[in-house]
Amino acid sequence: MKDFNIFIVARVFHIIGVVLWIGGVAFVTTVLIPALRRMPDQDKRYDLFETLEGRFSFQAKITTVITGLSGLYMLYYLDAWSRYLNLSFWWVHLMTLIWLIFTVVLFILEPLFLHKWFHDHAEMDSERTFRVLHTMHKVLLALSLISVLGAVAGVRGFQYFF
Ligand code: HEM
Repeated sequence: MKDFNIFIVARVFHIIGVVLWIGGVAFVTTVLIPALRRMPDQDKRYDLFETLEGRFSFQAKITTVITGLSGLYMLYYLDAWSRYLNLSFWWVHLMTLIWLIFTVVLFILEPLFLHKWFHDHAEMDSERTFRVLHTMHKVLLALSLISVLGAVAGVRGFQYFF
């Protein structure tokens, strides 16, 4: 059902979802992991990460679903599926890619094996495991910010080079 008011509500939920989700990723990347990496006690470091990231993981799951559903509704309302065929809408591709990565990690990889992999590696070599974790978060945060930048300018007609 296409309804302008639902489109606006979807847009509002999309942005609130993005703020809570990517804001949380930014906090974990720029505050939490650097602070944990400076902790000398490796067991405490792991336990604290588990407690805090575990709580955020729940928030991330909910906001991922909200952002994805509202984004899909907006594409449906705008009848904008053809954007996937147009390179100048690279930010729609990037938003969708980021959403897919987080969805696969949060709903499939983490419960299946990532959680155990992280636990086992953190026990074997805590420094290296947290360094890898930090790098992965930095890459995802950078991609997310690029897609926000691309979307906010692109929606208002900013012409990219292609
Ligand atoms: C399945 C995933 C997603 C889909 C299908 C999707 C789709 C959309 C659509 C259709 C719009 C409105 C464009 C317009 O009005 O012309 C939009 C806006 C936006 N999206 Fe997404 N999105 C998704 C995920 C994301 C993610 C992961 C982020 C952040 C990293 C994001 C950030 C934004 C922002 C900031 C806007 C607002 C731009 C503005 O109005 O200034 N989206 N999205």
